[in-house]
Amino acid sequence: MRTHYCGAVTAADIGNTVTLCGWAHRRRDHGGVIFIDLRDREGMMQVVIDPDTPEAFKLAEDVRSEFVLKIEGLVRPRPAGTENPNMATGMVEMLTKKLEVLNPSLTPPFQIDDDTINENIRLQYRYLDLRREPMQKNLRLRYRVSKLMRDYLDGHGFMEVETPMLTRSTPEGARDYLVPSRVHDGMFYALPQSPQLFKQLLMVSGVDRYFQITKCFRDEDLRADRQPEFTQVDLETSFMDEEAIMNLVEGMIRDMMQKAQGIELPAAFQRMTYAEAMNKYGSDKPDMRVTLEIVDVGDVMKDVAFKVFSGPANDPKGRVAALRIPGGASLSRGEIDGYTEFVKIYGAKGLAYIKVNDITQLNEAGLQSPIVKNLSEASLAAVIERTGAQNGDLIFFGADRAKVVNDALGALRLKIGHEKGHVDGRAWAPLWVVDFPMFEYNEDENRWDALHHPFTAPKDGHEDWLATDPGKCLSKAYDMVLNGWEVGGGSVRIHQQNVQEKVFSALNIGEEERREKFGFLLDALQYGAPPHGGLAFGLDRLVTLMTGAESIRDVIAFPKTQRASCLMTNAPNVVDDKQLRELHIRLRNTPAADKAA
Ligand code: AMO
Ligand code: AMP
Repeated sequence: MRTHYCGAVTAADIGNTVTLCGWAHRRRDHGGVIFIDLRDREGMMQVVIDPDTPEAFKLAEDVRSEFVLKIEGLVRPRPAGTENPNMATGMVEMLTKKLEVLNPSLTPPFQIDDDTINENIRLQYRYLDLRREPMQKNLRLRYRVSKLMRDYLDGHGFMEVETPMLTRSTPEGARDYLVPSRVHDGMFYALPQSPQLFKQLLMVSGVDRYFQITKCFRDEDLRADRQPEFTQVDLETSFMDEEAIMNLVEGMIRDMMQKAQGIELPAAFQRMTYAEAMNKYGSDKPDMRVTLEIVDVGDVMKDVAFKVFSGPANDPKGRVAALRIPGGASLSRGEIDGYTEFVKIYGAKGLAYIKVNDITQLNEAGLQSPIVKNLSEASLAAVIERTGAQNGDLIFFGADRAKVVNDALGALRLKIGHEKGHVDGRAWAPLWVVDFPMFEYNEDENRWDALHHPFTAPKDGHEDWLATDPGKCLSKAYDMVLNGWEVGGGSVRIHQQNVQEKVFSALNIGEEERREKFGFLLDALQYGAPPHGGLAFGLDRLVTLMTGAESIRDVIAFPKTQRASCLMTNAPNVVDDKQLRELHIRLRNTPAADKAA
């Protein structure tokens, strides 16, 4: 129907007659001459309709926003002084010969180039929201990113294999989305939280190098970087150790970001142990662009008069730590109160601080703070030395259970770092976090839980601790972190039955539960499973970082809200009684059930 995309007409087309199809982005009536900005996926073209073409002119008078038009006309230079250098087609315009209205449009609920629209309205009219240029760019980048990763993997001998969506619970540990079976009364499929078990089985099958760009489903509390259904670039290899796997996927990310956006990532990504990440940054996904660091001071607070510090300092599960803010002595009372409120989100009970005025006087004369009088000179000297504080700095403190201190000071570090410019100026800070513990202690349930999943291999030499001291066991797991986001994670797996048994024992998963949940995998491991390992990237997160979008919803064509609903289709929704009966389901205590009753 057309000869060109609107956005692809250039000065080289001057003098030619072209036919364009697109949407009326804007229409202006300039006393006898009508201008229409015609828009398609590639951009915008200024179209002029003058009364010398009466038929076209008459139609153009009734054109409104978002009408679909087909226009044939002559490309000519814009009159001198009316060129628009900010537009790809800004040097030319089209003089209309023939105009056809292919379809009118209702008045849209918002102007397509208005970027101040409430997100709920955007999600309700997502098909209109996606007409916006930034959204078109996001969709395109997403496609390009997945194509580049697919090409890279293909080039490295990986083969895409599809795995089932209607399956059994997988071991990622979030809540499952369940699908009731009509054929099997009272039984349910689970949608996969990842293809984890199937990709391991594919290694047993001899596929050797598998990948899949696929949807995963997790019913968890949603945040800006989480969706109930999201996309993984999932891969698994045989006969490669963790070093080789990390190098391979690091190469993929480097290659992809270079080709997609000209981003040059470092030749070798920084590596850090989990222990160091938690100690210095309070997080297992530290944003390495922020230059602030947390230091431990618990050992020097054991005997101080200030109970808020000495309590956690003497508790094996406690932590007392300090965060130095260079130049922070200039923070106002109001700002400090604001940060104190902020850390409460993470469970902190307060935010003690010291303004460092004169480090030669380790008392209330040199250190301005409500807590100095309750701290010993020796403890203050250690704080100054370890934080490296100078005159004019401020030191914040966290004292509580280690988790609370890490969460609170970790989040505060990011907030102040970005707000006050304590950053190193890098646009991209990739990092591998390694040496994760195999297990974390679940206080509520009084047991050890797998930090990744129960098929993660322990580090060489750590197997013996599985039975004696699970807390000491480190794993062959690795996470890739980019600018403070966990973009990917994986591990070398256990391929030997006896090691797998020990891990299940450490997790207190009994024989029956093992068989019931993972019997098929355990059987498969005994038929010559090769050493194998892999990883999965969160595609939505990667693309969000690359677009600079604030939420992963902006890089997903049809996302769900924070409450896991789709405002456009109104999913989830009630179903009729017949469907429920077929599925052997009776509702209880829900509004839908009340209505049916
Ligand atoms: P994991 O659970 O770490 O590993 O998931 C891999 C990556 O997927 C992304 N991700 C999410 N993105 C958006 N919304 C979510 N709700 C969400 N949950 C996870 C993250 C994460 O790094 N089977 C293992 C991988 C393996 O061991 O090979 C797995 O699923 O970016
Ligand atoms: P208080 O003794 O409760 O008056 O607190 C004295 C100072 O310690 C205040 O600045 C509080 O914000 C701070 N504070 C209280 N509890 C904690 C805590 N658990 N960690 C860090 N600072 C705290």
